[in-house]
Amino acid sequence: MPSPSNSDELIFFVNGKKVIEKSADPETSLLSFVRKVLRLTGTKYGCGGGGCGACTVMVSRYDPKSKKIHHYPATACLVPICSLHGAAITTVEGVGSIKKRVHPVQERLAKCHGTQCGFCSPGMVMSIYTLLRNHPEPTPEQITEALGGNLCRCTGYRPIVESGKTFCGESTVCQMKGSGKCCMDQDEGSFVSREEKMCTKLYNEDEFQPFDPSQEPIFPPELIRMAEDPNKRRLTFQGERTTWIMPATLKDLLELKASYPKAPLVMGNTTVGPNIKFKDEFYPVFISPLGLPELYFVNTTNDEVTIGAGYSLAQLNDALYFIVSDQPKEKTKTYHALLKHLRTLAGPQIRNMATLGGHVVSQPNFSDLNPILAAGNATINVISKEGTRQIPLNGPFLEGSPEANLRPEEVVLSISIPYSTQWHFVSGLRMAQRQENAFAIVNAGMSVKFEEGTNTIKDLQMFYGHVGPTVVSASQTCKRLIGRQWDDQMLSEACRWVLEEIRIPPAAEGGMVEFRRTLIISLLFKFYLKVRRGLNKMVNDFSGSLDPQKFPDIPENFVSALDDFPIQTPQGIQMFQCVDPKQPQQDPVGHPVMHQSAIKHATGEAVFVDDMPPIDQELFLAVVTSTRAHAKILSIDISEALACPGVVDVITAEDVPGDNNHSGEILYAHNEVICVGQIICTVAADTYAHAKAAAKQVKIAYEDIEPKIITIEQALAHNSFLSDERKIEQGNVEHAFENVDQIIEGEVHVEGQEHFYMETQTILAIPKAEDKEMVLHLGTQFPTHVQEYVAAALKVPRSRIACHMRRTGGAFGGKVTKPALLGAVSAVAANKTGHPIRFILERGDDMLITAGRHPLLGKYKIGFMNNGEIKAADVEYYINGGCTPDESELVMEFIVLKSENAYYIPNFRCRGRACKTNLPSNTAFRGFGFPQATVVVEAYISAVAAKCNLLPEEVKEINMYKRTSKTAHKQTFNPEPLRRCWKECLEKSSFYARKQAAEEFNKKNFWKKRGLAVVPMKFTIGIPIAFYNQAAALVHIYLDGSVLLTHGGCELGQGLHTKMIQVASRELNIPQSYVHLSETSTITVPNAIFTAGSMGTDINGKAVQNACQILLDRLQPIIKKNPKGKWEEWIGKAFEESISLSATGYFKGYQTNMDWEKEEGDAYPYYVYGASFSEVEVDCLTGAHKLLRTDIFMDAAFSINPALDIGQVEGAFIQGMGFYTIEELKYSPEGVLYSRGPDDYKIPTVTEIPEEISVTLVHSQNPIAIYSSKGLGEAGMFLGSSVLFAIYDAVSAARRERGLSNTFPLNSPATPEVIRMACVDQFIDMIPSDDPSTFTPWSIHVS
Ligand SMILES: Cc1cc2nc3c(=O)[nH]c(=O)nc-3n(C[C@H](O)[C@H](O)[C@H](O)COP(=O)(O)OP(=O)(O)OC[C@H]3O[C@@H](n4cnc5c(N)ncnc54)[C@H](O)[C@@H]3O)c2cc1C
Ligand code: FES
Ligand code: FES
Repeated sequence: MPSPSNSDELIFFVNGKKVIEKSADPETSLLSFVRKVLRLTGTKYGCGGGGCGACTVMVSRYDPKSKKIHHYPATACLVPICSLHGAAITTVEGVGSIKKRVHPVQERLAKCHGTQCGFCSPGMVMSIYTLLRNHPEPTPEQITEALGGNLCRCTGYRPIVESGKTFCGESTVCQMKGSGKCCMDQDEGSFVSREEKMCTKLYNEDEFQPFDPSQEPIFPPELIRMAEDPNKRRLTFQGERTTWIMPATLKDLLELKASYPKAPLVMGNTTVGPNIKFKDEFYPVFISPLGLPELYFVNTTNDEVTIGAGYSLAQLNDALYFIVSDQPKEKTKTYHALLKHLRTLAGPQIRNMATLGGHVVSQPNFSDLNPILAAGNATINVISKEGTRQIPLNGPFLEGSPEANLRPEEVVLSISIPYSTQWHFVSGLRMAQRQENAFAIVNAGMSVKFEEGTNTIKDLQMFYGHVGPTVVSASQTCKRLIGRQWDDQMLSEACRWVLEEIRIPPAAEGGMVEFRRTLIISLLFKFYLKVRRGLNKMVNDFSGSLDPQKFPDIPENFVSALDDFPIQTPQGIQMFQCVDPKQPQQDPVGHPVMHQSAIKHATGEAVFVDDMPPIDQELFLAVVTSTRAHAKILSIDISEALACPGVVDVITAEDVPGDNNHSGEILYAHNEVICVGQIICTVAADTYAHAKAAAKQVKIAYEDIEPKIITIEQALAHNSFLSDERKIEQGNVEHAFENVDQIIEGEVHVEGQEHFYMETQTILAIPKAEDKEMVLHLGTQFPTHVQEYVAAALKVPRSRIACHMRRTGGAFGGKVTKPALLGAVSAVAANKTGHPIRFILERGDDMLITAGRHPLLGKYKIGFMNNGEIKAADVEYYINGGCTPDESELVMEFIVLKSENAYYIPNFRCRGRACKTNLPSNTAFRGFGFPQATVVVEAYISAVAAKCNLLPEEVKEINMYKRTSKTAHKQTFNPEPLRRCWKECLEKSSFYARKQAAEEFNKKNFWKKRGLAVVPMKFTIGIPIAFYNQAAALVHIYLDGSVLLTHGGCELGQGLHTKMIQVASRELNIPQSYVHLSETSTITVPNAIFTAGSMGTDINGKAVQNACQILLDRLQPIIKKNPKGKWEEWIGKAFEESISLSATGYFKGYQTNMDWEKEEGDAYPYYVYGASFSEVEVDCLTGAHKLLRTDIFMDAAFSINPALDIGQVEGAFIQGMGFYTIEELKYSPEGVLYSRGPDDYKIPTVTEIPEEISVTLVHSQNPIAIYSSKGLGEAGMFLGSSVLFAIYDAVSAARRERGLSNTFPLNSPATPEVIRMACVDQFIDMIPSDDPSTFTPWSIHVS
């Protein structure tokens, strides 16, 4: 092995600057290099596995053969720096900056309100920017495609797409914005007739700088010279533990492969990288033949196309696209099938990095391309020093049999894919949790050849992915079917045989066993239909020579089963109240002002905690967490960990000087563990890599303790609760049940949700030399809470602890309580070591440790009349709180108080209790219980409707609050805005017309069904405890007139600071530019409560207003004396007159109260109303769904900033939609969370959002709140359930048609599995079911 002194220089460019690394380490990723070495912190860490796009950069390479420069997006977390020799990298800093020039991509993303927390924004910029470098005038479809690999948890994507669309040639934004007519506005004039004028323009395109593609930086000429150098030689980079070798020629490569047969060939690194990172694989030597000309070519002959193994999947796509447009269709069926999957396989970044060779060779069982390549009779062309050979892909190779495998010294040169022929059909079929950027749940490649002129099977091949440990061939079935006619009889036998041949064991890894079994034959059925249709078309092609009787077409109502849902570019319209034309121009209140930090987000200049420069002597922290759900800790052996390189110390419960168990929340496990993922100890080391490596060496011995409680059901059986029961009751429930026409009883299960904020929990804890002071910088919603926990843990007064919070990359409730725990864990480490501690949770640890939304079980008994009127409801709620109290009791109280939603039920009893289980402790999440509990309400309403033969919407209407009333907890309210939102929503969405159209569609389509739903909402903001609603602000005016504003609220992306600047600007009557807001800290505003509960603007706004008014009062005498004077003059004068220019503002809080003994109280300050409509289409064969349209009406009262409010509504809606449909946490029966990253937990991407979305802010009065506004942070979340109920409507239609019961369990989320299995049909009837007592399932539900 070469020694370090033999290491070559690694040369590449970053943002036009040459980088020469003399000792490049193969284990260093580009992400860590740009962030830690170059200190370019715009590129973010979101997952480390290529799945989120936060780290997107542009890679540019020069191809000496074509003499072209190739720009492509890549996820820097999966790019080893050693693979970059000769490449030019552009990071967000290289695109533009405030210091130099903001690039139009950055400017438009910001001005179109495409950033909220800003953590995803640099990645979004890079994806759009790279697209523009290749296509300066892209189509809307290209924009949507370019964003497919970038996750955003805040915005709901619509504004991001819209910013990209501004670069498209033709006008793509809704016409409403120009002409006053909108594509979605069928009911013209419904708003125009209103007293107030409605606006639709959230930004002004005229303000955008023009985009001039010729102004982009040039590719470094030095790299062109390097690429064209004919005397290339082998390069070697020697790292701390590994060596990277780049062969110069093919011969060199083959020699290297012979010398290091176990060394992987690193191409895209999209398999090797994640395996090293997440599966602990280690390789001392890597061989990287990137750029070797023999691996990059396309060769076309009369029979086949051969494509070099080095081609990326994106290049493969382009090559195939060219071929299919050039060749007759009959020859290109395999290429068409590949192209279909290449559109949705991973995201564009991965498709541009991953290579064809790497894809084929890594033989993953989930491979999307291998089953098609096998079905298309492709072959792998292999070379070694011994010579060349061909491996057929449809042989034993894909099944990974050792004899058929690639030999260690062999290299794949290319893949040959034969043309298809006339009587030959090839298809790729696929079903995934999400349409794009998600591994398939089951996929397949199938091909059939017929005897010419007949429908007699000559050859048949079926390959399935994700049904076993490798891609599996149904070869026996195929063999048996040769000679058979392609007809229904054949299909039914094929289904039976294939199920016998491919058996997924009941406890198979990945779970969803019955669903996967169903998909095996559902996909086969789709193929059957496609081929039958294809054969029928041949009758026309052969005009007259074929007997049409022998090639019947498929039934007309089966046609829509043929195609997957198309990926459309979303479009939307937003309506809000225009600002009163009489309002002074300078006053920004009511205007759609851009987020204060939007430009900084888009340029990457906004500083998040881990972007802060290293502090002298800082250490990194890695955690060791429990692998048992409930166990005694017998011993913790840290000796090996302490001996690891770079390790300074290991910190355990013994090292906590103060309270290790503060208010029931445990910092470091002591003696016992109570959940998988509980922190047992932390390792502090000089680098994170060292800390992590050492953490793996900590040995913990456990002894299991019984019981181990994971689910709500188990908690109920063990009487295991975190809090007492809460109850609200009105009327006489028992009596009412005796006098109703019908009674139904049921259960609803709602699973949990992961916050998936894009910035994981981050803490920087800096011990001070004096007086036991400690400073913490972290992303939190509740700095006071952090201060409390740190002070308690260190046993020092709170005054010694300073917490600073500037911004955080999303929070959604997940950063209310957890940062206190993690902050205290870090502070103990900082205290023990005396070093600053940087503690950045990896995505997997974050998901494991910090938990999320409470899973919920609702049990109901409902008494109602045959006309749909509900007379009595008795509802019980149980939530899975996890192992410690956290906020579970409060969540339960909210559920009990709010769950009546918009309905008046005269005899109503609602009870709730938080269960204690051995899961990580669940916590606050946007909506705080409401989104879960109201599913139960809407579910029983739907069940009543089904019994009464009414539409759910009719039953909702009948039971909805109609006039000023009292809630079940006896708080008076006026539901007029609720009625208005409901009515507008029904009208504007043309609900009844669409319902009819959907019914027509459903009659004509057996395998696809449309469904619609409208949900009403009565939501509340705030907390039923008055002192939790207080807030303070501090305003300083400096002598130049500039104003520094601070308040107790935290900027989480919601734009709180922007609104506070708007308030200060109005109150002080100065331009917004005079007001600066830097950070939130416990030093400037003490004892501030959390930023949550939708009341950030309400309470902090009042405090800011108060401070500004105090200051203005003080200035009044001066202003009076010089009314025409300027602000700066008045300030100068005030100083001369010794008037204090600093004031604290205070808001005592809304005087809410709740008496649980009496079961009554004015629990909340006011209500937020809304309604949303959604229409979906469901594929009954796969369980996929497509959201066609959504209309949201949200009662905003008076919106202080419509852009931010609409951003909150849309973002929450999409987050809610994800919660109710595709986001699914998977737990083992032992309480181990499997879903720990974007690969196995699917939040919505740009492809899930509605094709059409309209949001209207409805005007109402709310004098209690600042400027008569309303808090809209959470309300949109529940409106996402309109998608859930639309799905159930579609499923009901399918079930009705199949003669099944209309009532079926209505649980959440409605995943593809749930949808498919509810659409019971002949295929499901064929599936073998397993006796649950004979196996332990891979995963369980915990609700
Ligand atoms: C976030 C993410 C999402 C993904 N989503 C999907 C998806 O939806 N569907 C899907 O099918 N796949 C998906 N993948 C997998 C992806 O397709 C494969 O990882 C990729 O194709 C591997 O190619 P590579 O060039 O990166 O291989 P590498 O990681 O560079 O190499 C992989 C293996 O192949 C070997 N190898 C590479 N080239 C050669 C060669 N020429 N000769 C001999 N051996 C070679 C290497 O030795 C190594 O063992 C996803 C991956 C990621 C990271
Ligand atoms: S951090 Fe690289 S893709 Fe998520
Ligand atoms: S703005 Fe996209 S993740 Fe926050």
